[in-house]
Amino acid sequence: MSNPSLLILPGDGIGPEVMAEVRKVIDWYGENRGLNFDVSEGLVGGCSYDEHGTPLTDETMARAQEADAVLLGAVGGPKYDNLDFSVKPERGLLRLRKEMDLFANLRPAQCFDALADFSSLKKDVVAGLDIMIVRELTSGIYFGEPRGIIEEGNERVGINTQRYTESEIDRVARSAFELAMRRGKKLCSMEKANVMESGVLWREVVTEVGKDYPEVELSHMYADAGAMQLCRWPKQFDVIVTDNLFGDLLSDAAAMLTGSLGMLPSASLGAPMANGRPKALYEPVHGSAPDIAGQGKANPIACVLSFAMALRYSFDQGDEATRLEQAIEKVLADGVRTADLLGEDGVTPVSTSEMGDKIVEALTASL
Ligand code: NAI
Ligand code: MG
Repeated sequence: MSNPSLLILPGDGIGPEVMAEVRKVIDWYGENRGLNFDVSEGLVGGCSYDEHGTPLTDETMARAQEADAVLLGAVGGPKYDNLDFSVKPERGLLRLRKEMDLFANLRPAQCFDALADFSSLKKDVVAGLDIMIVRELTSGIYFGEPRGIIEEGNERVGINTQRYTESEIDRVARSAFELAMRRGKKLCSMEKANVMESGVLWREVVTEVGKDYPEVELSHMYADAGAMQLCRWPKQFDVIVTDNLFGDLLSDAAAMLTGSLGMLPSASLGAPMANGRPKALYEPVHGSAPDIAGQGKANPIACVLSFAMALRYSFDQGDEATRLEQAIEKVLADGVRTADLLGEDGVTPVSTSEMGDKIVEALTASL
């Protein structure tokens, strides 16, 4: 059997810097765990525009469609700010998400004990936190029609429409239940069924889908109450599934329970391919960080954790993903910090590449 394929799109700014550290980790898995990938690279974002006049070529798009997983760094930068909207770097990323139909956006909120002091919440509220928010990404109020600003009488009216079809809810619910099966077997669905018909349908369909997953303990919560519970006692949750708008807010809020942007991975999943793997794009939550690009200051952990998600959700290597997460935990516990993770206590930060080396050392120590 051939190796699973991994398309790497480092992108712009710190993208290539953090991706170089992920390459070290990928090589380590090949050499030490017999986990080999057919890795190929491509251009996305500003670097693709510079080379081809478009942020994503049809050829790279086709390779993304065929790949078992895509791993992306970041796109954009001030150099491209004045480009026409149609060729802006972000359009490359949007095209990938749209054409791969990545409807389930996975945003973990995970707190490494060594960083629990970083949180704005009390240490015991966040220490050991490990939850996953699944946000519906391709429908809902950001896309629903009618929309616009119209004149009505002598004033303007702004209109957006929340619209969800049964099948749209069904497929994202299934993704969330599948995740819950691989994790703590607990799923909380959030909507506002008390005031929104789309929320009533959401609750009905999620409940229906739940019948196919009797092992998963399903609960429902109004999204506003959910926001309170996330701040009060986030460890009560395992997987949360919610719509595009609520998910946008809840996932940003939950992410910040745990500290730096340099630590946050994400995955966007679509429908299963012929080989049973979901279409998948893994990427750090952060952008291209032009303020620190080219200086060796970027924290590669968000990108490395995105690869850990790929191991778990695309390649069925949950144990190896845990090994990688624990290696990162160990490096942090040893006090190794990139500049973004430093408080005022006078520790000298390590570079992007030193952080990658430390993670690989910790992987080797785990054998
Ligand atoms: P950003 O995430 O690039 O940076 C925000 C702040 O966080 C900066 O101070 C940066 O230095 C810091 N930061 C981000 N990642 C870091 C890391 N790994 N290690 C250490 N520090 C880190 O967001 P910003 O500044 O709003 O956008 C910069 C560019 O990135 C823009 O062109 C924007 O359009 C693009 N962008 C791209 C995204 C993507 O590719 N998915 C997402 C967000 C922004
Ligand atoms: Mg947001």
